[in-house]
Amino acid sequence: MMRLEGKTALITGGARGIGRAFAAAYIREGAKVAIADIDIARARETAAELGAIAVEMDVSSQASIERAVDETAAALGHIDILINNAALFSADPIVEIKRADFDRLFAINVAGTLFTMQAVAKKMIAQGQGGKIINMASQAGRRGEALVGVYCATKAAVISLTQSAGLDLIKYGINVNAIAPGVVDGEHWDGVDAFFAKHENKLPGQKKREVGAAVPYGRMGQAEDLTGMAVFLASPEAEYIVAQTYNVDGGQWMS
Ligand SMILES: NC(=O)c1ccc[n+]([C@@H]2O[C@H](COP(=O)([O-])OP(=O)(O)OC[C@H]3O[C@@H](n4cnc5c(N)ncnc54)[C@H](O)[C@@H]3O)[C@@H](O)[C@H]2O)c1
Repeated sequence: MMRLEGKTALITGGARGIGRAFAAAYIREGAKVAIADIDIARARETAAELGAIAVEMDVSSQASIERAVDETAAALGHIDILINNAALFSADPIVEIKRADFDRLFAINVAGTLFTMQAVAKKMIAQGQGGKIINMASQAGRRGEALVGVYCATKAAVISLTQSAGLDLIKYGINVNAIAPGVVDGEHWDGVDAFFAKHENKLPGQKKREVGAAVPYGRMGQAEDLTGMAVFLASPEAEYIVAQTYNVDGGQWMS
């Protein structure tokens, strides 16, 4: 049986990587999906391949959030599920962090998550059928890392906002929860690998091999490793789960 039959989902940052895998999994489970991304060309390509619709969206802009949420609701009829997946990564030693980088990451990863959640929650409340919101946190939100201060702080904020929004919105039947992945291979990690090659004097690919070997499971995650949790949290089986952040990370973090 398909577990998301009749449901609609808005997935931010769904043009590639983990968001794309979520879109594919939701479609397999019977949902209609809007892939919302700042990279609209890639979003259109992905949407055409998967059978989704593409929506242009910059989660750091309030006007863009509202436009994208309205466009999705108009195209799909209603919005039952939101995955706040769009995010940027950055890494710098503390003494080299630039204020502009801090502002940009907080605008996308934190304000983007909060105000997209708000815009979609308003629609869900008006629809009167509840809903499911899933925020993408990270193991980076569980503890700081020497070279990743800003990104870690944004993901700690996502965990906190998931708790507050989860507690506030459950009275409308809206479940807000989060997924905290560990290290997930893909284009995002190609960039991280290149950063560490520069800052820790490593060969290309070396950091990926090291982090993969350090995962208790024995390898880096793949986007597909996260889809089970994303489908579950969006399904009726997750009705009684409120304000939680689930680690899906091969055993990296225990809490
Ligand atoms: N890859 C990992 O190891 C890992 C680990 C933990 C958490 N995460 C989280 O999972 C999520 C997805 O990660 P990924 O590895 O697939 O990332 P990715 O960089 O491959 O994909 C991110 C997507 O977001 C889009 N995007 C960027 N800025 C945007 C904006 N302002 N508005 C709308 N869309 C925007 C990009 O165009 C891209 O399609 C992120 O929230 C990330 O922080 C990833």
